[in-house]
Amino acid sequence: MPSTGPSTPPPPVHLHVTDAIKTPSLIRLSDTLVLARFETLKVYAALGAVRTLLAAGTVRPGDTLVDSSSGIYALALAMACHRYGLRCHIVASTTVTPTIRSQLEILGATVHQMPVESDLRLDQHRRVARVQELLRANPGMHWMRQYHDPVHRLGYAELATLVRAAVPQVPLTVVASVGTGASSAGLTLPIRAHEPSTRLVGVQPFGSVSFGSERFPDPDAIIAGIGSAIPFDNVRHELYDQVHWIAFRHAMAGTIALMRSHAVFAGLSTGAAYLAARWETRRHPERVHLLIGADTGHRYVDKVFARHREALDMDTLEPVEITSLDELAPPWSTMPWARRARPSSTGQDPQPAAVAGRPGIDRPGIDRPGTDWPAPTG
Ligand SMILES: Cc1ncc(COP(=O)(O)O)c(C=O)c1O
Repeated sequence: MPSTGPSTPPPPVHLHVTDAIKTPSLIRLSDTLVLARFETLKVYAALGAVRTLLAAGTVRPGDTLVDSSSGIYALALAMACHRYGLRCHIVASTTVTPTIRSQLEILGATVHQMPVESDLRLDQHRRVARVQELLRANPGMHWMRQYHDPVHRLGYAELATLVRAAVPQVPLTVVASVGTGASSAGLTLPIRAHEPSTRLVGVQPFGSVSFGSERFPDPDAIIAGIGSAIPFDNVRHELYDQVHWIAFRHAMAGTIALMRSHAVFAGLSTGAAYLAARWETRRHPERVHLLIGADTGHRYVDKVFARHREALDMDTLEPVEITSLDELAPPWSTMPWARRARPSSTGQDPQPAAVAGRPGIDRPGIDRPGTDWPAPTG
């Protein structure tokens, strides 16, 4: 008798590669920890932004989108432009890898790579100056501003729907490394609209202004894609319940442990978030934790994976639990953020939640188009 076919639906045949790679693999690491493992997290951000701008008539097919990026956002934007018939200019820092650069070029993006500059801030300022120069010469270009424009959060609503269907257990905690903040806010806001008890845990490097650790400048602390040297409007401080600050060696310990224990080859920001998430699962065994794994390990082979024998044993590591930013100390600190406002740039403690507005609810004035800060991540 001929087979009546499989009982499970066949996998979808995608119309474009962005549909295939945007969706994470969900992997259960323990009863209370699920990893969302992305090839690249930024496809949701780029697709959501481009579709919204096209639908609003802000840009039209054939127009040129421009942004400054040193990493996975540039590639995601170039892919979204490829899909929707737009042109793309990327002002890339000198750190953009040859792998990303050649893909951008083949996709038809124009890449303006900045000269070698040891001072990161200067590199960022130069990149913004270059974008502004391009905009002056080509007034029709659209500046994406992934760090500030809330349009980059919209695509993550689709991810929120997927997560609620696949991980229906509540209460849920999202554990995410924070760069622009678009993914953690874009995912958590729609989940909280259904389930307000959802916690958000943010992971930061030392040396970042976003959550007040800028007084720890340490070039070795760099974890690609997360943290910032300047404030980003897409970081919505009032959404975060807890913050972890994690140094490079601890992030490396988490990255290697994730591969040893679960055979998952993921990037450094995922390793840092894994370390934080394991601590959170011990603290809150009644919750299911969703760990965001933003990229694969390929970019970190030399700095992290090839040095696996030097990795610290993750099980021996514990954070310093602090209650004020004054107590912040490397290599790992954690603090209840309690949905407070943005810290002042001097690294002083943030204002209490009462002046920050209602948690999880958009506040007028906050979602304004951003100031034109230079930008180090993404
Ligand atoms: C490797 C990596 N992890 C985490 C993030 C953080 O994502 P978001 O910018 O949405 O906060 C980024 C952003 O560029 C990244 O590149």
